[in-house]
Amino acid sequence: MTSDGFRCLVVDDEPRIRNALARLLEGVGYRCEQADSAQAALAALEREPAPVVLTDIRMPEMDGVALLHEIRRRWPEVAVVMLTAVAEVETAVACLQAGAYDYIPKPFHVDEVRARVTQALEKRRLILENRQYQEHLADMVDQQAVRIEELFLEGVQTLAHALEAKDAYTKGHSARVAAYAGRIAAVLGLPEADVQLIELGAELHDIGKIGVREAVLHKPARLSDEEYHHIMQHTVIGARILEPLLKHAPQVLAVVRSHHERPDGSGLPDRLRGDQIPLHARVVSVADGFDAMTTGRPYRPPRAVPEALEEIRQGAGRQWDGAMVDAFLAVCRDADHLPIPTPAVSRRRVPHRVAAGAIVTPPG
Ligand SMILES: [Fe+2]
Repeated sequence: MTSDGFRCLVVDDEPRIRNALARLLEGVGYRCEQADSAQAALAALEREPAPVVLTDIRMPEMDGVALLHEIRRRWPEVAVVMLTAVAEVETAVACLQAGAYDYIPKPFHVDEVRARVTQALEKRRLILENRQYQEHLADMVDQQAVRIEELFLEGVQTLAHALEAKDAYTKGHSARVAAYAGRIAAVLGLPEADVQLIELGAELHDIGKIGVREAVLHKPARLSDEEYHHIMQHTVIGARILEPLLKHAPQVLAVVRSHHERPDGSGLPDRLRGDQIPLHARVVSVADGFDAMTTGRPYRPPRAVPEALEEIRQGAGRQWDGAMVDAFLAVCRDADHLPIPTPAVSRRRVPHRVAAGAIVTPPG
C-alpha cells in the first residue's frame, strides 16, 4: 500500500518530537498537520478529519487517552495510533482496548513508525470496506425480503381472482371494488399511500372465503342464520391468512377484517360502531356494498344502478359511514359510466416504504 498523499495529524505538546515525527512521515509521502494539544487536534479534525492521528499520551489539560475517546465518539472512522513512553505501556494497551489502532513506543525508529502507520491505515481500509460490504449486504437482504413478500402477495391476489373466477356472480368483484374504493379515497383527499393501501385491501377483502364451505358460498338460495354467520367468518379468516404477510400494513388487515362492520354497531365480526371502524375499511365497505348490489346472485337479479345508489344513500349513517357515502355518490356523479371499468391486469404492490409511517386523519 502506498502512503502517497495520505493526510496525517501528529499531536504532541513537545515541538521537538512533533516536528521529528512530521518530517519522518513526510519523508515517506504523508502530508502532515501538527497539533500541540488535544484541543488543537480536535479543532483540526473539525476542519477536516484526517484518516490517521498519531498522538502522545501525556499532554497537559486533555491527555491522549481523552483525545482518543473523543475521536472514537465523533469520528469513528479515524485511525488513532498512540505514542507511548516505556512506562506507559499499560496505558497504551488500555488504549487499544478503547479503540486505538496501535501504539508506537518511544524512542521511535523511522521504519517502525512507517510500518505501524501503514498497518493502521490498512486496518482502517479493511474496516471501512467491511462496513460498506455489510451495509450493501443488508440492503440486498431488505430488497430480497420485499420481493419475497411481493411474490407471496401476488400469489394471494392470483388466488383471490381465481376464487372469484370460479363463480360467474363474483367474477371481477375485488377488482371492481378496488377501482371504486380507490376513487372514493381520492375524492376524500387521502394521501396516495392510503389510496394504495385501500385498493390493496379491497383486492384482498374477501380472500377469507377460501375457508368458507363451498355449499354455503355458492348456495342458490337465501342463507340461513347459521350459514350467514359461517360465511361472515371470511373476514376473520382472511385477516388471519394475511397477518404474517402484512404486519407492516395493518390498514390492509383492517379492511379485510372490518369491511362488514356497520356504523350502527350491527356489523360483523366485532360489532364496531361509527369511527371505531377503521377508515380504510369504511371506504371499502361502501364500494363492496354497491358492487354486491349491482351484480346478480343465484337467487336474485342484479339491481339497477339508480336503485343501488338510492339504497346506499338510505343506508348512510346506519350501514355505511355518511362521509363515505357522500364521497361515493360524488364518484358516481363524475363517472363516465357505471360500473367503473377496471384495469385488465391488476397487480398491486404492498406500499412497504410508506405503509409503516402512514398516518391518516379522517376528513371532516
Ligand atoms: Fe366480504
